[in-house]
Amino acid sequence: MSIAAHLVDPLSMQITWRDIAGLDEVITELKETVILPVQKRHLFQGSRLLQPPKGVLLYGPPGCGKTLIAKATAKEAGFRFINLQPSTLTDKWYGESQKLAAAVFSLAVKLQPSIIFIDEIDSFLRSRSSSDHEATAMMKAQFMSLWDGLDTDHHCQVIIMGATNRPQDLDSAILRRMPTRFHINQPSMRQREQILKLILENESVDLSVDLVDIAKETDGFSGSDLREMCRDAALLCVRDFVHTQNDSSSEDFIRPIHQSDLQKGNQ
Ligand SMILES: Nc1ncnc2c1ncn2[C@@H]1O[C@H](COP(=O)(O)OP(=O)(O)OP(=O)(O)O)[C@@H](O)[C@H]1O
Ligand SMILES: [Mg+2]
Repeated sequence: MSIAAHLVDPLSMQITWRDIAGLDEVITELKETVILPVQKRHLFQGSRLLQPPKGVLLYGPPGCGKTLIAKATAKEAGFRFINLQPSTLTDKWYGESQKLAAAVFSLAVKLQPSIIFIDEIDSFLRSRSSSDHEATAMMKAQFMSLWDGLDTDHHCQVIIMGATNRPQDLDSAILRRMPTRFHINQPSMRQREQILKLILENESVDLSVDLVDIAKETDGFSGSDLREMCRDAALLCVRDFVHTQNDSSSEDFIRPIHQSDLQKGNQ
């Protein structure tokens, strides 16, 4: 298994800030604390306090944009992105997995500036317990020492970015290494409106549709729930189209999405 398979070229990545709605504050903060110190390194050289963080944690409920944010950060900053699936490190034969971890870090250093992204980081670096398999405990220890190794070199521009739904399950030693944290919460009504607007931007939507109303009615929905709802609504339009196909007088077009389609989708 080659580590290079986890490498994603920034040019091939599609997600940009424009694909994320309602999280402007998080994006601004990411630009200031993570991207700027790397891109304008010369401005920050004199300061020890303003070095880019070595660890960034995105946490919050599922489907609210953590993975989106991580991808967009790499894309917008032009960093190399290593999407590390925890399972590649844990599923392997144990001796092998230690070699893999070392290979990941050395690749990241060679390609810097780079981000090592670990999605669902809790599944891999959860609190150490006495019931841990010895090899698992060793792997965690090794991972942390590799991580600390990044810190000894001031010019090193490798950032570990993790995402989790359960920050409370993370090892406290890991949390300490991720001082820069972003809470990506369930969207508020205003944020839901912005997300809906973005999702429906290129769809054919009837002029009478009131997204503020839909945002009000979707309390508790995540960004991904909203997307599903819109997809269901769009499918209703296609279904109507298919039903009227047999009717020879019908026109050849799919009707726009109506308010009621969206409302059916959120039941
Ligand atoms: N703020 C948002 N703006 C636009 N789309 C969003 C937003 N949040 C979520 N989505 C939609 O939901 C999908 C899932 O989001 P994402 O994968 O980033 O969630 P996540 O927080 O990483 O969830 P998980 O914890 O389950 O991994 C996205 O692909 C996107 O279509
Ligand atoms: Mg995710």
